[in-house]
Amino acid sequence: MARWSYPRPSSSEITPRGVWLSRRSLLAGATLGMAVGAGPRAFAAALHTRPGPFQAAEKPTPLEDVTHYNNFYEFGLDKTDPSTRSGQFRPRPWTVSVEGLVARPRVWDIDALIAALPLEERLYRMRCVEAWSMVIPWDGFPLASLLALAEPLGSARYVAFESVVRPAEMPGQTGGLDSLAWPYVEGLRLDEAMNPLTLLAVGLYGETLPNQNGAPLRLVVPWKYGFKGIKSITRIRLVEKMPPTTWNQMNPAEYGFFANVNPEVDHPRWSQASERVIGAGGFFGGGRKKTLMFNGYGAQVAGLYGTMNLRSFY
Ligand code: MTE
Repeated sequence: MARWSYPRPSSSEITPRGVWLSRRSLLAGATLGMAVGAGPRAFAAALHTRPGPFQAAEKPTPLEDVTHYNNFYEFGLDKTDPSTRSGQFRPRPWTVSVEGLVARPRVWDIDALIAALPLEERLYRMRCVEAWSMVIPWDGFPLASLLALAEPLGSARYVAFESVVRPAEMPGQTGGLDSLAWPYVEGLRLDEAMNPLTLLAVGLYGETLPNQNGAPLRLVVPWKYGFKGIKSITRIRLVEKMPPTTWNQMNPAEYGFFANVNPEVDHPRWSQASERVIGAGGFFGGGRKKTLMFNGYGAQVAGLYGTMNLRSFY
């Protein structure tokens, strides 16, 4: 496995020892530090990177755009709501339970989980179903690594995910009739969940995940539309039947369970043939590119779908 030295923060950015929540040696012998609360929160770490599909060739979207143009309806409907209305959200302490059809169910403390699994940096394209896209350097670990620790039973066929419900900290959860039903829920087929591309992210740009991007733990499935990337996860359940998913329940005619990026299948209200590249040329002119089947990850994932009619499984 190729190793890559993550840039160290300058000494002024290094968090005082006293506030580091966890510290441990990675396989490479480097140290991982995670700060809690306010202040700098860099991973002073050597993160593993793997070449190939795990490192997109495109330029990363500027951090400012990644953290100020968001979808996170628990904080409101506008793209700026997640960054401006999530200040009171507390992603620590935090637990995530892995349960259901597994031999070893466990309720993980988030920092114990981060200490248990080596972190990698993955530069992935993200294509939102609303026809905009970004390229984001995530820090995280493969979902497969966590599932392996739980030992899925033979009867497990799907993985169901659940976001946190905290109306006191999430103003969008007290919304009116147009509100989504909470918790936000998502799901993957077990083989999709086990694919090496499927990531659980705990950071981006080398820092702990900002609240607006799904702190402290969110799913990243780069060949699917962004809404599959459920944020602020508290529960991961292995199940036998296809689990309900938030957007499919809200509007089944427009959002499917699989939601694989597909430029040939238009959304009922807009084309999916091309996408607006955020941070590359502004809202008008430039910054548009053609959308690729499976968001360009077909070599890695097309085999998951065999002869499935991708049109009807939108
Ligand atoms: N997860 C939760 N819990 N709530 C949400 O509203 N929005 C989804 C997804 N995960 C959402 C969520 C959508 S529509 C997208 S495009 C991505 O998060 C956006 O991720 P980003 O804001 O980090 O770019």
